[in-house]
Amino acid sequence: MAPKESIHGSWSSRWAFVLAATGSAVGLGNIWKFPYITGENGGGAFVLVYLFCIALIGVPIMMAEILIGRRGRQSPINTMHTLAIESGHKPAWMYLGVMGVLAGFFILSYYSVIAGWSLEYLIKAASGVFTGQTASGIETLFGDFINDPKYLLLWHTIFMMMTYLVVARGVKSGIEKAVKILMPALVVLLLVLIGYAINTGSFSQGVSFLFNPDFSKLTWGAVLTAMGHAFFTLSLGMGAIMVYGSYLPKSASIAKTTFMIASADTIVALLAGLAIFPLVFANALSPGAGPGLIFITLPHAFGQMDGGVFFGTLFFVLIVFAAWTSAISLLEPVVTWLVENRGMRRATAALTSSITIWLFGILTVFSFPSDSPIKFEFSFIGETKTNGVFDILDILTANIMLPLGGFFIAIFAGWFMSRDATRDELDMGDGFDFNAWRFLVKWVAPTLVLIVFLNIFGII
Ligand code: TRP
Repeated sequence: MAPKESIHGSWSSRWAFVLAATGSAVGLGNIWKFPYITGENGGGAFVLVYLFCIALIGVPIMMAEILIGRRGRQSPINTMHTLAIESGHKPAWMYLGVMGVLAGFFILSYYSVIAGWSLEYLIKAASGVFTGQTASGIETLFGDFINDPKYLLLWHTIFMMMTYLVVARGVKSGIEKAVKILMPALVVLLLVLIGYAINTGSFSQGVSFLFNPDFSKLTWGAVLTAMGHAFFTLSLGMGAIMVYGSYLPKSASIAKTTFMIASADTIVALLAGLAIFPLVFANALSPGAGPGLIFITLPHAFGQMDGGVFFGTLFFVLIVFAAWTSAISLLEPVVTWLVENRGMRRATAALTSSITIWLFGILTVFSFPSDSPIKFEFSFIGETKTNGVFDILDILTANIMLPLGGFFIAIFAGWFMSRDATRDELDMGDGFDFNAWRFLVKWVAPTLVLIVFLNIFGII
């Protein structure tokens, strides 16, 4: 039987959960990754596929993940084990949790490096180095930075320490307050940037790039990236939301909370796109610049606008916080498992896993400097990738492990758990249509993931 309460504690309220899960969802994925992959994949059509994936795959799977977590009340590995046995199936379902823990490990190893870039840019913004720079000056600044492993490593180390500190104390104490201030501030600042983009950027060109779908640019590779990103940006497919769900009070409506989290996440991503692309076009930068896109576009804008030092500093502070609240959720599944199964204290578990992930992250640090032996090019379904190990980890996790994890979560909730068990968690008499959810999770979401996978591997 699953325990009634998680041994790791509970959220103080439904709001605490919504804030923490939103903190997990909104992060580098929205502000750094969404714009650069949209730029690389040609804009509008890619955005449309991404929005479809959020609605038809992400939302039903998020509900499944939360309900599984709340019913199991343990780390994802043990939750899957308990629920599989409870519904009369093989305990091998726990390997879904194992894959999730592994995915979280890989993602955090590079996530921390990129969060480190934001720390460096926070200092740069505050010290005014962007002021008056030309676009090419800003590009040089970025190039010099990622070519110098010393600083990349330093910031990666600091960010991993920040993540460790919060997880060691238990994720429930500070997140709520941080996210309550962070989210509104982030939205306001993105609106300020959009205002700037309307005045000085090529706003209509940016809007049309984002929302005018040109399906001739849409490849199966782009569809896979869009689908993978729907999982990444909502923190799905690896047990992060499952673990957060395991601290959720039984009385809270899963449908309503999911809707709030997914909306907030999507709004922040679209606002980030609206702020960035008009500036890209106005300054003749390339939308397909890759992972450096926001670190080139936005500093240039901060260097030109009135109050740029203030807004620039604030912006990078907010990104660091957004990345921090996400990184915490990537570490939490591993830590809960080590506590439950290895009998470690939380602080020890957090330290052990943080050090391992930090070490692994060094591979990403050395994926960027041009003279590094592990920076290499390769081609993945017709696209050229230039950042060696970083690109491999990104493709492996976001494009493969998360959708695969999500696929099995949907199959488990739709086909293996009993209808009554899922209904018991979801049906709150709040106007939510249980049958519609069940149809989405049984048929629509898994079929869509499967179609994309089969196409990628050239099977259909
Ligand atoms: N969703 C976060 C972002 O967009 C990243 C993240 C946090 C994540 N937890 C996750 C991604 C779990 C996948 C799985 O930045």
